[in-house]
Amino acid sequence: MRRKKRIGILTGGGDCPGLNPAIRAVAKTSFFCHGAEVIGFKDGYEGLIKNQTRELTWEDVSGILTQGGTILGTSNRANPFAYGEKKKDLSKQALKNFRRLKLDALICIGGDGSLHIAHELNQMGLPIVGIPKTIDNDVEATDFTIGFDSAVAVATESIDNVHSTAESHHRVMIVEVMGRYTGWLALYAGVAGGGDVILIPELQFDIKKVCRELVRRSKIGKRFSIVVVAEGVRLADSKLVIKRRVKGSTDPIRLGGVSYRIAEQIENATGLEARVIILGHLQRGGKPTDFDRILATQFGKKAVDLVMEGKFGYMTSLQGGKITSVPIQSGIARLKKVTPDLPLIQAAKAVGTCFGD
Ligand code: F6P
Repeated sequence: MRRKKRIGILTGGGDCPGLNPAIRAVAKTSFFCHGAEVIGFKDGYEGLIKNQTRELTWEDVSGILTQGGTILGTSNRANPFAYGEKKKDLSKQALKNFRRLKLDALICIGGDGSLHIAHELNQMGLPIVGIPKTIDNDVEATDFTIGFDSAVAVATESIDNVHSTAESHHRVMIVEVMGRYTGWLALYAGVAGGGDVILIPELQFDIKKVCRELVRRSKIGKRFSIVVVAEGVRLADSKLVIKRRVKGSTDPIRLGGVSYRIAEQIENATGLEARVIILGHLQRGGKPTDFDRILATQFGKKAVDLVMEGKFGYMTSLQGGKITSVPIQSGIARLKKVTPDLPLIQAAKAVGTCFGD
């Protein structure tokens, strides 16, 4: 009799809505279509390094489609190639744990950092399949990552809600969103929420142009403005505003707070009153949107298909509405950035949105 396949799964890096639907899809496809067993690693690569696992049952994954976060836990510090303060290479230990558990494959649901680790582990012989997730949407070779749409929904709702108080007080409201070094989240939420000014890292802004636009609006009777700022924009001195450094993380830099500097410059140059709202981790909370639930379900099923085909070193991908797969390497070759010729940028400019460029 053939042995049941055993599939490992982990969620690595920052969490986001859509991880649980992906875990559910991987587990249910494995159980129902292949009679396979699914072993979850706790807290991302930490579980693989320390051999902390839990076998997932049908009950574990039932009812989690609508839940944010991840039932497996996650960590953005546990890098098997550079673990802890001393940056120890524990990759061989991770591989040993994987083999001891008699697993046939590992499905890694992760963003840029976790997929880099997945690629390196695959190079060492670990049969791995990736599923791209991150609210930043900065993974190459896929149109969208799990979690992005949900974060856009949260940010858009916040921009909607800030309109009334901006209007009552005739203020400039600056809404800072996450996104690390890319402007996808700011662009999508900014357009969806009707931001008057959108500042993203890919289009270097000139504060004078931003101020000119705010004064122009004020003069034509629009006595309030909404400015949507990506946390990764650079001021005229070209510096990023860094909030903290997280030791042990694949990228230790945590951005945040650039909006306070922008608000100060706007107030000084225009005399308009400005307030700052930093949305922060709210953007990683709440229920996954319908889009993310559907994407996660399709990615989860596709990841199991790849395992069954023995197509390791690949990650799931959405391209032009189709679910497909690409080598993990092509997903992590570089960060996927907004380009100036993107139709959404053109449309936003056509309706009068200012990017300060
Ligand atoms: O990559 C996802 C993300 O939420 C970024 O948008 C943000 O810059 C960063 O993670 C925040 O990380 P942490 O959860 O460590 O504060």
